[in-house]
Amino acid sequence: MSTKDLDTDEVAEIYDELLKTYETEWAYRGHRSLHLAYYDDDHDEPGSAAMNTMRLLSEAAEVDSSDRILNIGCGAGEDSVWNAQAYGTPVIGVNISESQLEFARENAEEHGVEELTTFNYDNFQTLETVDDDSVTLVWGLEALSHSPDRTQALDSARRVLTEDGRVAFTDLFLRTPVETLSESDRKKIEYIDDALGLRIGDIDGFETTLRETGFENIEIEELTDGIKPCTKRRRKFARVAYPVGRVMEKLGLTTKMQINGLAASSKIHKLIQAGVLGYYMVTADRAETTN
Ligand SMILES: C[S@@+](CC[C@H](N)C(=O)[O-])C[C@H]1O[C@@H](n2cnc3c(N)ncnc32)[C@H](O)[C@@H]1O
Repeated sequence: MSTKDLDTDEVAEIYDELLKTYETEWAYRGHRSLHLAYYDDDHDEPGSAAMNTMRLLSEAAEVDSSDRILNIGCGAGEDSVWNAQAYGTPVIGVNISESQLEFARENAEEHGVEELTTFNYDNFQTLETVDDDSVTLVWGLEALSHSPDRTQALDSARRVLTEDGRVAFTDLFLRTPVETLSESDRKKIEYIDDALGLRIGDIDGFETTLRETGFENIEIEELTDGIKPCTKRRRKFARVAYPVGRVMEKLGLTTKMQINGLAASSKIHKLIQAGVLGYYMVTADRAETTN
């Protein structure tokens, strides 16, 4: 993983650019998720599989109506709306992109949960808008892979959690530390990190960071097989769209960022198939003390 700092404005800019293609997909699929879809026997088309990822995480986190959820990296509000609708829980969503926050507010209104949801501009590294001891669950659906410093992000999560609070995340992780990768795989990861504003880390390292920042009862479940149909679809789309995009870029009809985003989704699928990347669900409880 690159240790380079990651400017939140850069990440917001990447998302603003990629949202142009996502908006078409959202209209077509009828939802606004920005995460990988989890396929199983009951969820075998893109829309329901995208809902399924949120369902899995809510169930693993044992969300209930007494929760107060903080959704870090809330995207266009889909997972905040999901928890507010399914469980009647109040949700605060934070993001570093004003345009996504606008989408999120609109999304909540469309689903009649605007009273339960609040969307604030805030960096999950510091969570300046969130009070200490104020939420029972910190939820991050593919958010922490954007973190340049997971220790700082988890310290902040711990600070805002109540004593019996917990965290729930899903994300892409390296199966083994970056040092163990071949030069060519390392370059692919760097490309993906740069194109999508990510800092992909390894799963064992994340478990250690969780422990060191004061979390216990850590449960890690691998969900890679279920998201493969989704990454495969994205790769298929990218293979067709990439050459067209290159021509469009020359004509000034699309941008390098969009083209790089396509190439990155192709590489993600390849690395998943090669067993370099995995998709994991992680839950943990706030420990009484830090180590
Ligand atoms: C892959 S998207 C997932 C969005 C949403 N959770 C979903 O499932 O649709 C990651 C999100 O994290 C946000 N993000 C990245 N870095 C962030 C930071 N430092 N603070 C807050 N949000 C951040 C991005 O803007 C984006 O909305």
